Amino acid sequence: MSQYDVCVIGAGPGGYVAAIRSAQLGLKTAIIEREALGGVCLNVGCIPSKAMIAATHFLHKAQHDAETMGIKISDISVDMKKLKNWKQSVCDKMSGGVGQLLKGNKVDVIMGEAQFVSSTELSLKSSKGQQAVRAKNFIIATGSRPIEIPGFKPDEKEVLTSTGALDLEKIPKRVVTIGGGYIGLEISSYLRKLGSEVTVLEAGGALLSGAADPDCVKVVERRLKKNGVNVFTKAFAKSFKKTGSTLKVTAEVNGKMETFDADKILLTVGRKPNSDQMNLSKIGLNIDERGFVKVNAQMKTNVPHIYAIGDIAGQPMLAHKASHEGVLVAEVIAGHNRVYDAKTVPAVIFTDPEIASAGWTEEECKSHGHPDLKIGKFSFAANGRAVSLMETDGFVKIIADKKTNIVLGVHIVGPEASNLISEAVLAIEMGATLEDLALSIHPHPTLGEVMMETADAALGHAIHMINRPLSGSPRANA
Ligand code: NAI
Repeated sequence: MSQYDVCVIGAGPGGYVAAIRSAQLGLKTAIIEREALGGVCLNVGCIPSKAMIAATHFLHKAQHDAETMGIKISDISVDMKKLKNWKQSVCDKMSGGVGQLLKGNKVDVIMGEAQFVSSTELSLKSSKGQQAVRAKNFIIATGSRPIEIPGFKPDEKEVLTSTGALDLEKIPKRVVTIGGGYIGLEISSYLRKLGSEVTVLEAGGALLSGAADPDCVKVVERRLKKNGVNVFTKAFAKSFKKTGSTLKVTAEVNGKMETFDADKILLTVGRKPNSDQMNLSKIGLNIDERGFVKVNAQMKTNVPHIYAIGDIAGQPMLAHKASHEGVLVAEVIAGHNRVYDAKTVPAVIFTDPEIASAGWTEEECKSHGHPDLKIGKFSFAANGRAVSLMETDGFVKIIADKKTNIVLGVHIVGPEASNLISEAVLAIEMGATLEDLALSIHPHPTLGEVMMETADAALGHAIHMINRPLSGSPRANA
């Protein structure tokens, strides 16, 4: 029987980070993974989707912007087999890197499927047979999986989850996407660029509802439609049937039944935690009504020496939150006095253009006791770098407390929003004011200047725009 100080179950961005940090702190550490190192994120989620998005962005620019820039490209075509192989090589490189890091830090990597037999022992099934693993501390980092809805059983051939959609052999002619959230819109955007006819059915009244600032969503919705994606909101997918080779999807759209033809259905209606596996309830772990393992601010469950991090331990289900918790939990086990006290978890949606946010929306600021706000908004259209990239759609919006000027929320839609948001995270974590952002010299010509100009706009004196009061907020900003 193997005995460890720390045994991590699940090698996604939560688990592998927890294992590396535990080993760095001198703890004898093992990590168990049933599929591939790097988990959903590296193998069938964040990384392959970003590879597909990067490739199709390149294709779209070549088709639409190159000629305006004076570059003639003829005979553009997509070799799906090569694209798929390249995407896979990106994942393999990242997953291999995780393996090297674990090995270099002397973490024992065990490929197999674990079950708790008691709160201090796991039974592990692997290619070597059955074995027992005991540890002083267990970290559960087993993540989440796609939700299924009645009428649409994913088979990854006709009804795809993100996993199947990221691994297509051929470009499907017609795709119906069920769910206009993060995954649905990221994948729909790139499938459209590859040439599929794409229809998005979203049950709610808006795309990305609750996931992003509504003003940012409007910009993405406009671009989706411009690129030829059919978008239906208040469209609740009910069932489908196959007629010949066509999948006929029935949905209630604004109270009326309608049918949509597809060759592939993409099911992206959310994810749920994997807490119904591994005998977690049998060993007495408290699990909430949504299936999340209940943890305190040190990621401790109610069972001594068992911790949970990442998607299984609550929203938001984001890789960087899982990694943050991975470091924290290892340090807690090593005896450091740490608690989860991050002020904000940034979120990025890799649509076209990207949306990124940190901190609160206007509504949230008000509900958190900031009724009076200063809001600045500055468009990428007035930024030289954005114009030279032909990427002028979108804006940065900064929300600050009116009395103190402390930055409470930053919402970006536009080019490189995913990279620009980190400055906002730092500002919010440090309690920075609008002046801190406005008076920091930002290099020219960069997209980052928009952050500085937006802070100036909130203060009423941006240079590269005519400063007008935003609707609802008096010019008293000045
Ligand atoms: P989501 O929760 O973002 O969106 C699901 C949507 O499906 C909702 O808007 C819901 O109203 C709709 N829906 C549900 N049933 C429906 C029906 N029958 N017909 C039509 N619409 C229906 O879920 P998604 O996109 O699957 O993503 C899951 C999670 O994965 C996200 O919440 C996020 O945490 C994570 N993720 C993060 C990414 C990133 O960081 N860039 C990328 C992808 C996923």
